Amino acid sequence: AQVHDQKMARGNGGELHQVAEGETPVLTTAQGGPVADDQNSLRVGARGPLLVDDFHFREKIFHFDHERIPERVVHARGYGAHGFFETYESLAAYTRADLFQRAGEKTPAFVRFSTVAGNKGSFDLARDVRGFAVKLYTQEGNWDLVGNNIPVFFIQDAIKFPDMVHAVKQEPDRAFPQAQSAHDNFWDFISLTPESMHMIMWVMSDRAIPRSFRFMEGFGVHTFRLVNAKGESTFVKFHWKPKLGLQSVAWNEAVKINGADPDYHRRDLWNAIQSGNFPEWELCLQLFDQDFADSFDFDILDPTKIIPEEVLPVKPVGRLVLDRMPENFFAETEQVAFMTQNVPPGIDFSNDPLLQGRNFSYLDTQLKRLGSPNFTHIPINAPKCPFHHFQQDGHMAMRNPVGRANYQPNSWGEGPRESPSAGFPHFPAEEQGQKVRLRPESFADHYSQARQFYISQTPAEQRHIAAALTFELSKVETPVIRERVVSHLMNIDETLANTVAEKLGFQSMPKPADAAMPTRQDLEASPALSIVER
Ligand code: HEM
Repeated sequence: AQVHDQKMARGNGGELHQVAEGETPVLTTAQGGPVADDQNSLRVGARGPLLVDDFHFREKIFHFDHERIPERVVHARGYGAHGFFETYESLAAYTRADLFQRAGEKTPAFVRFSTVAGNKGSFDLARDVRGFAVKLYTQEGNWDLVGNNIPVFFIQDAIKFPDMVHAVKQEPDRAFPQAQSAHDNFWDFISLTPESMHMIMWVMSDRAIPRSFRFMEGFGVHTFRLVNAKGESTFVKFHWKPKLGLQSVAWNEAVKINGADPDYHRRDLWNAIQSGNFPEWELCLQLFDQDFADSFDFDILDPTKIIPEEVLPVKPVGRLVLDRMPENFFAETEQVAFMTQNVPPGIDFSNDPLLQGRNFSYLDTQLKRLGSPNFTHIPINAPKCPFHHFQQDGHMAMRNPVGRANYQPNSWGEGPRESPSAGFPHFPAEEQGQKVRLRPESFADHYSQARQFYISQTPAEQRHIAAALTFELSKVETPVIRERVVSHLMNIDETLANTVAEKLGFQSMPKPADAAMPTRQDLEASPALSIVER
């Protein structure tokens, strides 16, 4: 091997590094050792065995072998961009959150859009919910608004999330389908889960095949609380409205695009931002108090319900602009860790059982995926405001307490102390009751809002919903599952149910479904719901 002359030279940033000939930097190992030959491994003679002495070969292969980290268990396929959020006016009357205090305040942002069901390498135009996760690097810590492009969800209680996700992903024996809901397991679960009906109407609509990320709405889904400096709370629902408006593709377009360009949505965002065509969304709030909440038949803690905008118009409070693509997809988009529990003082949770379950889940999943409790040391996850704590050590610790004290109180006068006035004040909601496992009666109506959504659609959009249901259910091989779904549709809209049943070749219509989730005894007793032998 030929060894190049080593010398030192200054790079563009003024840093010193070794150079091969001329200005080309010398290739080094991860330890900084200069590499003489990167084309041939060390061996005995020209045709002999390789040698373990070859530390460069070993390090290079070792690192390559460890390149993959677990993909996200859901939302594996995503695409992110940097930008900023600009506040329109002070919201001090509602919240003490620093980012909402001053008109014109700009807060750095990172947003990741995603599909939910497909694997990391799946196609962009699947019929699926889209994730709309926003990280705002506020002066009081990171606020993650981890939302979707649909304002409701499939389930009311986080304990059902693993079942729901198992059912939508590939079936465990055959490992397909990889990126679509059109299969027996998914529709089996849905047909046995009446609370999913409102969400299903949205997922079967054009909302689930957006033309691009730039033409999507985003929703925080749950009811949150805003809390002002006086400690007063206002309920809030968060909405992102795209400046470009809403647009979707038709299903036959989606199928063709998936074949021709599986990266269609990524390419669209990349091209738009690289050409200076920066997409924008307005953050809009629905603000309401307890009396208003009590005026509905449904429960504002139920994540399968919306508050109609005709009843409570949204208030635009700021704009989100995406103006810079990540320099490195893995470092930023893959390693970004969103967590619903990241909220600054002035934003707080409600008792929505799905939200509370999420607040538990995300920290856990980030540890699994990123492999170390120090995932906040990765630049994309680190706060951009000053921060001080005594957490230390662990895998890949990049920061440790400085000085002698790694605890408080201490007698050395070192390190940070807690602050009653600046710290996060949990809203002191009064809670009491017995420990129980049950769904409240106020969560029981699964069809009214599904119906409202369906009838709010134009005739063409309604035809798309019927066509989507027919396509999806035509892929379902088990007749009783199709029948169960149609029996739910009968509670939503009879014409829709009849259309789908007719296209699927039903000889007769099933009875309308019972709104309660069937028990095992129900399944065994009822021929229509009978446990299916496969
Ligand atoms: C990931 C939204 C419900 C667990 C995500 C992501 C979004 C999202 C947008 C992708 C974040 C990213 O881009 O990195 C939602 C919404 C929900 C919901 C809007 C309901 C309203 C749940 C529930 C659970 C859950 C109930 C569990 C109890 C997870 C997990 C990930 C994830 C484990 C993967 C996180 C990662 O590895 O980075 N969710 N989700 N989600 N969600 Fe949810």
